[in-house]
Amino acid sequence: MNIFTDIQSLRQHILNWKQQGESIAFVPTMGNLHAGHLQLIEHGKHIADRVVVSIFVNPMQFNEANDFKNYPRTFDDDRAKLEAIAVDCIFAPLEKDLYPVNQQLTTKVSVPVLGEILEGESRPGHFTGVTTVVCKLFNIVQPDYACFGEKDFQQLMLIRHMVAELNMPVQIEAVATCREADGLAMSSRNNRLNQSQRAIAPEIYQVLSSICEQIKQGNKDFSQLEHEAVATLNNSGFVADYVAIRSVADLGNPAADEVELVVLAAACLGDIRLIDNMPLSLKA
Ligand code: PAF
Repeated sequence: MNIFTDIQSLRQHILNWKQQGESIAFVPTMGNLHAGHLQLIEHGKHIADRVVVSIFVNPMQFNEANDFKNYPRTFDDDRAKLEAIAVDCIFAPLEKDLYPVNQQLTTKVSVPVLGEILEGESRPGHFTGVTTVVCKLFNIVQPDYACFGEKDFQQLMLIRHMVAELNMPVQIEAVATCREADGLAMSSRNNRLNQSQRAIAPEIYQVLSSICEQIKQGNKDFSQLEHEAVATLNNSGFVADYVAIRSVADLGNPAADEVELVVLAAACLGDIRLIDNMPLSLKA
């Protein structure tokens, strides 16, 4: 397994593969890898000849300095995990190479409206940071495929929009959310939960499952369902940010006859923000 920090060396390495006619799957990460990341990589291995994994804790997508500072950085563990599953190459760029000028002055990619609701509303600038760094990484790696988890549903939608609207020649592959046995969606942030927070955390999954079940039984009072879910989370010890029943097409409020829905939630335990979602198809 090769590890590159330098952009030019990585490009040359990938070019050699491409000249042999090999296809490339790319899995961008911020490290602190868990089983969810490994599933993205497994998917990449199925669809392409080579898999490149990037590890970069992207400062531009953190809207709180402390969140960036506390984000777990576990490069040695990550490298061992990637070696064990025979990933072809790690790209771990340096901040000064991705943002050679002041971050504020960097050309940015943003997706209006979709990037400003839900997570975008609560974390201003977050998605511009995500789409900017993903665009930069796509330009560097030039993959045929890029794999993203459905756990970050809004992020996945934004990336699909960016790729379509900027005519990027990469196929986006979505991989289902990986969950712990009690339903908690896997996330690098879970490592920061203390024992009592960890015990409460699966309540997000319970709440999402319960909403989906009630909608399937015919309950169409979405706003009541959302309010009840927020109250349930708050009573369990979370500070809920939102529980939202939206249309899968654009994450807008669904029409009464909408059949492709997604229920999204964000809630904090202490200073740890957890997000999750559950798609729901009502198609006959
Ligand atoms: O989902 C993540 O880990 C990050 O947002 C990503 C896509 C690697 C961009 O920094």
